[in-house]
Amino acid sequence: MTAEMYAEFAVREARGVSPVYERLASAVSRNEGLLELLAGLPAAKRQPNLLFGVVRLLGGPVEDAVAFHDFVVANWPEIEAEIRVRITQTNEAGRCAVLLPLLAALPQPLALLEVGASAGLCLYPDRYGYRYGDHAVGTGEPVLTCAATGLDLPVEPPRVVWRAGLDLNPLDVTEPADIGWLDALIWPEHDHRRARLRAAAALAATDPPLLVRGDLVDDLPALAAQAPADATLVGVPHLGAPSRTGAVAGGVRGDGHRPAGTLDRERERGRTAL
Ligand SMILES: C[S@@+](CC[C@H](N)C(=O)[O-])C[C@H]1O[C@@H](n2cnc3c(N)ncnc32)[C@H](O)[C@@H]1O
Repeated sequence: MTAEMYAEFAVREARGVSPVYERLASAVSRNEGLLELLAGLPAAKRQPNLLFGVVRLLGGPVEDAVAFHDFVVANWPEIEAEIRVRITQTNEAGRCAVLLPLLAALPQPLALLEVGASAGLCLYPDRYGYRYGDHAVGTGEPVLTCAATGLDLPVEPPRVVWRAGLDLNPLDVTEPADIGWLDALIWPEHDHRRARLRAAAALAATDPPLLVRGDLVDDLPALAAQAPADATLVGVPHLGAPSRTGAVAGGVRGDGHRPAGTLDRERERGRTAL
């Protein structure tokens, strides 16, 4: 079963995106010794991204399958301990480029509430710079590029007066170890994403967001209630669990606020819907 998971990861997720991880996942799927070590973990902890991310976090090699094997065998107690306490988390500021046209079209100012915020890097759509082809919006760093067709593109970024995030495991932008974990989870060849993470984290660290540890269903209404009533409250979910978006929309619709919307990037497969 773990062997199949790694073989499928190689073909379905890594192929065409990360030749390094395609080779590595394929090698792990055929390596009895590594599969035996993974079998000692809970099923949910055997995933390729978690193993590869932890090895990279600990400075191990992922380019060469033999060196990877030797590193994992030699350092298994430390690797296992990290795997057991960590979860895979991304935080992709680039998603703001997809959200920007809709955010800018809403009644301003905005109160942003992200569910599954990770380190909160998607809470700064007003601070980044954007390039949609020749069309530039904002002057901040990092500059986020995005193709856009059939859309009215904004001239100005939105005005955000309140930003907050909820996450089961919020990460701290001012804590190098937290940013190091996000960095380790970025796939090896994706240096542009690594540079974007560093730039966005540096920007967020100058004015860290309000991040609350909690679950989207139980803890969202209390956080939404803190938003200023004279701003448009917008819920931004990206959890990898689109089926729970209904609960998010319900939780954000706070009493006394301007009508709230929910931006669901997953359901719309990359496009943004209110
Ligand atoms: C794939 S990351 C996305 C992070 C960020 N929204 C982005 O777009 O870059 C998903 C995040 O959702 C959080 N998460 C998953 N289920 C959650 C839940 N039920 N309640 C709150 N946060 C949750 C995870 O801890 C993780 O940080």
